[in-house]
Amino acid sequence: MKIPLLQTDKHFDLAIAGELNLDLILYGLPLLMETERDFLATGFVSTLGSSSAIVAHNASMLGLRVRFATLVGDDDFGKLALDRLKQAGVDTSDAIVDRSVTTGVTILLPHGAVRHSFSYLGSISALTVANLNRDHLSQARHFHLSSLYLQTGLHGGIVDLLKHLKGAGLTISLDTNDDPANQWGSPLNEILPYVDIFLPNESEICRMAGGRSLDEALQMLGEKVPTIIVKRGRNGCRSKDQGQIGDYPGVTVNPVDTIGAGDSFDAGFLCAYLHGMDLATCARAGNISGALSTLSTGGTESFRHSKLRESFLRERGFPVVRS
Ligand SMILES: Nc1ncnc2c1ncn2[C@@H]1O[C@H](COP(=O)(O)OP(=O)(O)OP(=O)(O)O)[C@@H](O)[C@H]1O
Ligand SMILES: [Mg+2]
Repeated sequence: MKIPLLQTDKHFDLAIAGELNLDLILYGLPLLMETERDFLATGFVSTLGSSSAIVAHNASMLGLRVRFATLVGDDDFGKLALDRLKQAGVDTSDAIVDRSVTTGVTILLPHGAVRHSFSYLGSISALTVANLNRDHLSQARHFHLSSLYLQTGLHGGIVDLLKHLKGAGLTISLDTNDDPANQWGSPLNEILPYVDIFLPNESEICRMAGGRSLDEALQMLGEKVPTIIVKRGRNGCRSKDQGQIGDYPGVTVNPVDTIGAGDSFDAGFLCAYLHGMDLATCARAGNISGALSTLSTGGTESFRHSKLRESFLRERGFPVVRS
């Protein structure tokens, strides 16, 4: 695994250019619903959503210095989401408030191990590379990109941006998350040569490799990216690093929901990585952080709950201890 810059005068550990929106989660609704009927949820939560923002929030709560560049609409949901990041200590000074768009939103209906998910993109697809300050992003040691197929506004110019950041000494990670069109097309192949750490889940990597098995998908993608970490839900993760396969078991928990577990995994993994730890330790950190996320609703509530967060990280042996 490529070693990140360790001793530097950089002001931030992690920079993210990404989407920012709320998740509205309704619990207890049936899997199949007829039209022309009213259905009553048994629980409702509105919380910080969006993969990029969950990674930023949780990485900051784990002690990294995080800068987040984003674009939201001039509305209450945009303000609430931005406030959540600020409360977590994330630097959002480059955030753009654009009156011409509505802040995006995701509505989630968890049904045990599976869920329905509905999104309105709005501001999510409105952020462009022209909105980003390259010098500010370059003040971090590492750059993370999420939700490649929702952030379609970034597609033009993203290759050039990653090239620039690489030239400025940053290491780069990518979590595509799902492609709603299931096409896995451009700009994935063009950006993979700049990616040091690739963080898909099992279903995503198999589908992006044209429906191959996990082993075959790792073989295929492993020729393009030096380090791949595949997230496997309660089974933890499998890595392929410089041709070597490794398996790292999940942490046994009793989940409330698994929304944002993958993003929380990324935050834990990157936290250990940016402390210069080896792959096995980073994978364990990801599994602990992903499991922590499942203990409360949504992707960030467990990390906001300081008593739960600190006791879980200590008991499960999270490898980075903050002073
Ligand atoms: N039920 C669970 N028990 C223990 N750990 C879990 C569970 N679900 C998820 N995790 C942890 O979280 C990580 C990420 O989960 P998952 O494989 O669901 O990612 P994902 O599908 O990318 O999630 P997301 O919906 O956030 O994109 C797993 O690798 C594991 O470490
Ligand atoms: Mg994911």
